[in-house]
Amino acid sequence: MNIIDQIISSYLNNKSLYIGEKVTMTEHMIQTAMLAEKNNCSSNLVCSSLLHDYGHFIIENPNHLVNKEEDGKHEDLGYEFLKKYFVKDVVGPIKYHVKAKKYLARDKNYYKTLSKASKISLKLQGGIMDNNEAKEFENNKFFEDSIKLRKFDEIAKKTGLNIKSINDYKNLLISKLV
Ligand SMILES: [Fe+2]
Repeated sequence: MNIIDQIISSYLNNKSLYIGEKVTMTEHMIQTAMLAEKNNCSSNLVCSSLLHDYGHFIIENPNHLVNKEEDGKHEDLGYEFLKKYFVKDVVGPIKYHVKAKKYLARDKNYYKTLSKASKISLKLQGGIMDNNEAKEFENNKFFEDSIKLRKFDEIAKKTGLNIKSINDYKNLLISKLV
């Protein structure tokens, strides 16, 4: 099976819920991509948004990890896998979308908007960034896109929405292959 078909089949077959939420991982990632489209983001960022939690498909049982209070490093897993196939501007923001949460959580109002599960995982991911780390992150090439992705990520957990199919993104995925 080629990589695009393999990715599409993981979205179609994986029925696990997004940790602590009421939508599936697949629905969550498609909603994230749809938000990027709605906000007129670049096609690279739409593709990043679509693939951002792919690492959770690679981790065998993400719920188990959270229950055990372990961080599965899904952003690294996803990044390491996807970078073999997709262009840098697509995989960069995926690698940093957890850092973006640690950055944004410095703002109390943002922190308040995090779901319970997201607050727990923030702790496991090393907690809120300090000022030095934040400055360094601001200079990262993927800073802006990671922050945008993170904001879509946070709200892409709605139930009962009419959402696209992963097949609707097939051409986009193909266009971003290296
Ligand atoms: Fe996510």
